[in-house]
Amino acid sequence: MSLNTFGHLFRVTTWGESHGPAIGCTVDGCPPGIPLTEADIQPWLDKRKPGQNKFTTQRKEPDEVRILSGVFEGRTTGTAIQLMIENTDQRSKDYGDIAQAFRPGHADITYHQKYGHRDYRGGGRSSARETAARVAAGGVARATLAALVPGLTITGYMVQMGARGIDRSRVDLASIGNNPFWCPDPVAATDWADYLDQLRLSHNSVGAVIEVIATGVPAGLGAPLYGKLDSDLASAMMSINAVKAVEIGDGMAAAALTGVENADEIRMGPNGPEFLSNRAGGILGGISTGQPVVCRFAVKPTSSILTPRQTINQRGEEIDLITKGRHDPCVGIRAVPVGEAMMACILLDHLMLDRAQTGSQRGTIG
Ligand SMILES: Cc1cc2nc3c(=O)[nH]c(=O)nc-3n(C[C@H](O)[C@H](O)[C@H](O)COP(=O)(O)O)c2cc1C
Repeated sequence: MSLNTFGHLFRVTTWGESHGPAIGCTVDGCPPGIPLTEADIQPWLDKRKPGQNKFTTQRKEPDEVRILSGVFEGRTTGTAIQLMIENTDQRSKDYGDIAQAFRPGHADITYHQKYGHRDYRGGGRSSARETAARVAAGGVARATLAALVPGLTITGYMVQMGARGIDRSRVDLASIGNNPFWCPDPVAATDWADYLDQLRLSHNSVGAVIEVIATGVPAGLGAPLYGKLDSDLASAMMSINAVKAVEIGDGMAAAALTGVENADEIRMGPNGPEFLSNRAGGILGGISTGQPVVCRFAVKPTSSILTPRQTINQRGEEIDLITKGRHDPCVGIRAVPVGEAMMACILLDHLMLDRAQTGSQRGTIG
């Protein structure tokens, strides 16, 4: 299987399967001299790791990252950085039933149709275990951004579970870490806990919407026309398992607006241009405006559930399938740090592209 790489100058190639000995990634193109140790990457992996509460899969993985290359005496050398995370808690027997059958809503059927031979254990390469490697790469990107663009922040949170959205008037970004859902609305988080408990106990699952916002992004990242910051962001978010839609700024809602409502009006502030709103999500013409970059993505409900669903097996027989194993009842929860990691990798990639093409040259205003 090819096409395991994303990024133009900051290039990430992930490898590994859910029940193989390890997973990881090669990060190529990271600038030299960036302070980097495992301790810079581990906190992001800890945020994503399974088994932390009853609302995520009970697979217990320490997800300890090891840097195998590209760092010497605590700083990057500019050569390929190899990151490895061992798999320690595989339970492959749970997946015997899907060796010859296809979970509805999962990738078993398409992997079989395309490749004819698949690692069915834990979903193999289609398992979201792969997203740990993205989060590790995101840790490298964050450390690099911290050195190159001090003050840039990236924050992800869940804004909707099933049909239950947050109340934006109650949003408190400081409260995100106080509940198991990375939810910025404490009232919604309490409601979601009861709701997800009921769903989990009734052998069901539910979808979610995640928002990722980056502040302190310099104006000028991204390029017309085939290297737009928003098209690369959309591609990166869409590549996350279970993602079915991506929005930038007002996204789909922009279609319902008039031109008068949609205009992000511009005034001249003491330090340069200031926008009066940010419906564009911080990107115009594929290029960052200096406003927060705002991206949302929708994830579908977990397909592996204990309620029997109709499907077929490899012999073409119609069967009912219950999916055993340890699964996330709402994959949106652990998708939050994955979305943050993808945002970090794409922003760094575009920062490097911008430096390569324009250096410090900028158009002046005022
Ligand atoms: C963080 C995360 C955790 C996931 N956990 C599970 C899981 O426990 N069980 C499952 O069936 N799918 C899970 N998924 C979704 C599957 O990996 C995904 O549905 C599958 O690869 C098929 O791809 P698609 O949904 O993008 O078409 C998870 C996704 C993410 C982002």
